[in-house]
Amino acid sequence: MGATDEVIARLREEGLARLALIAGAADIESARVALFGRKSPLTQALRGLRELPSDERPAAGDALNRLKDELAALIEARARLLAPAAGPGGRLDLTLPGRPPVIAGALHPLRGVLEEICDIFYSMGFARAEGPDVELDYYNFTALNFPDDHPARDSQDTFYVNDAVCLRTQTSPAQVRIMERNQPPLACIVPGRVYRNEANDASHASEFYQIEGFCVDRDVSLADLRTTVEQFVRRFFGEGRQIRFRPHFFPFTEPSVEVDMTCAACGGAGCGVCGRTGWMEIMGAGMIHPSVFAAAGYPVDACTGYAFGLGIDRIAMLRYGIDDIRLLYENDLRFLSQFRGVW
Ligand code: PHE
Repeated sequence: MGATDEVIARLREEGLARLALIAGAADIESARVALFGRKSPLTQALRGLRELPSDERPAAGDALNRLKDELAALIEARARLLAPAAGPGGRLDLTLPGRPPVIAGALHPLRGVLEEICDIFYSMGFARAEGPDVELDYYNFTALNFPDDHPARDSQDTFYVNDAVCLRTQTSPAQVRIMERNQPPLACIVPGRVYRNEANDASHASEFYQIEGFCVDRDVSLADLRTTVEQFVRRFFGEGRQIRFRPHFFPFTEPSVEVDMTCAACGGAGCGVCGRTGWMEIMGAGMIHPSVFAAAGYPVDACTGYAFGLGIDRIAMLRYGIDDIRLLYENDLRFLSQFRGVW
């Protein structure tokens, strides 16, 4: 048989056709035998070279060997592609345990604490509502009984958009917005972000979170406020906690108080965390001022109510012993990953 160009072309066609039959790793060996085994047409053709006239032999041999190399390269490529993934022992070990996926996502501690606080108030019958971050000066101050010249309106503290519009400095404006649209009895909580024009340091941030709570009905008393706050504190911080009311001033509550609870670190004995007093401040509160009811269009004599406002950042810091508020806003995964699985 002469190794002419035509014969080589046919051998190549047949070889490629045989390669195309390979469906899996198990077919590789039989394809190798069929292409390069002793009885394969290619081997036969190589053997037939010696019958050729000596002047045709080198060119024919060269062409056949190039075809052999080409087919060998193709079959090795197929073999590599189809080889099973090798385990450490060189084979796939189906009994090995899987690698657990790394779950990097988790609730941010502020969000976790926010939802946990809301859950406690839901269980006491409060409903959740929201107010706008960009607020009218009217709701943020005027309707809350702040006199026109009150220092809190000063642009030192408030980010103004224009004369009438600011970023809310507290969640309290939601009280009036909600009362305008709903009649008592009402029990609401309003979580949200608030803004103050302050320099950021370990204990101040220009953006932080508050939860407003208020309850309006007939004959709501300071004792109701106290019971509600005590329930919250014991459920969030632990049964042993005591609270106390300290007289304070807010334009929109009368009387106004600041609420302290026994120190999370020393339990009330006095330590470095609570400045040796045994108490830590946790929120502002009071009985809703009649002018706030008047601004909401409520009959001033017919209802009473209490309101409180707590800083979520502060509550989170007290519970987890976080000593720098900036940690809550830097999104450093070394900090955040410690809260994985808490909520
Ligand atoms: N809005 C007050 C503050 O930001 C807190 C507060 C809310 C006080 C409700 C009394 C009643 O400081």
